[in-house]
Amino acid sequence: MIKKKLIKNAFKVDKFLIDFLSDQSRSLLVKPMKYGIISGGKKIRSTIILDAGKIFNLAEKKLLNICAAVECIHSYSLIHDDLPCMDNDSIRRGKPSTHIKFGEASAVLAGSSLLTLAFEIITCKKYSIDSKKKNEIINSLASCSGHTGIAGGQELDLKFENKKKKINQIIDMQKKKTGKLFNFCLYSVGVLANKTYKEKKFLSNLGEDIGLLFQLSDDFLDKTGSKKLVGKPVKKDNKKGKSTLLNLVGEKKAQNYGNNLKRKILRKLEKHGKKAEELRRTIKFILERKF
Ligand code: IPE
Ligand code: IPE
Ligand code: MG
Ligand code: MG
Ligand code: MG
Repeated sequence: MIKKKLIKNAFKVDKFLIDFLSDQSRSLLVKPMKYGIISGGKKIRSTIILDAGKIFNLAEKKLLNICAAVECIHSYSLIHDDLPCMDNDSIRRGKPSTHIKFGEASAVLAGSSLLTLAFEIITCKKYSIDSKKKNEIINSLASCSGHTGIAGGQELDLKFENKKKKINQIIDMQKKKTGKLFNFCLYSVGVLANKTYKEKKFLSNLGEDIGLLFQLSDDFLDKTGSKKLVGKPVKKDNKKGKSTLLNLVGEKKAQNYGNNLKRKILRKLEKHGKKAEELRRTIKFILERKF
């Protein structure tokens, strides 16, 4: 069962985060930070990293810092995404959003602190990987998070509300707001596995496609999913006038687009044979998921 794998991986990453935070001095922000990141969320990006690590026989110990850092960035982006100035959503992961529970100012600060915590987790001395690799990982994580990645994509997402956008503009926006972090997930595994420039590029593109597929299924869940299972409000994208592929081309065409994208991703993984089996399972789950 894929659910078992997700829970097992989420547990490991949560434990890493709890230990990491307990090694730091206390602050008022730890509570809203933990609220926003621990014990909640599928931690699917971590699973993608651990699955991809299996392709190259990488030790899990070397991957956990990457997983934790990615989840910090992801949870930061969600805390901010729910703020009244962005999507204005009051439920996340079946609980009140961080700003509802702790107030807007604390949510902004906890989100920003998760963003920087990601870099503390990669740069910490205890994470003993080659310093050149560390540098490459930091550089990629920064560019996938900032204005050329998540933040830039989120800006486009908001600017595209109630506008008629072309399919390629929507894909570009979604590749940034969601695809780039998945891009980083596979790229960083390529760095740790000593892959060539060309192979790392291949992994980046593959990750970005997986992220696009993931956003497409998120948009589907908004339209057809159950609030209880997804743990967040549904049927809101339409009301907000969000520019999604689904809203632009309709259910049938968007479903076809998703199926073709999934096939393209699986084809790209063929060269890795059996070693990519776990990653393949996770990719199939992405399009079929109910949560
Ligand atoms: C939701 O991400 C936001 C998107 C980028 C589509 P997830 O569905 O991974 O959220 P959690 O972490 O499981 O709550
Ligand atoms: C969010 O997309 C993507 C991020 C990078 C945060 P959505 O706005 O669709 O995510 P949900 O549906 O609120 O989780
Ligand atoms: Mg949003
Ligand atoms: Mg949102
Ligand atoms: Mg959504």
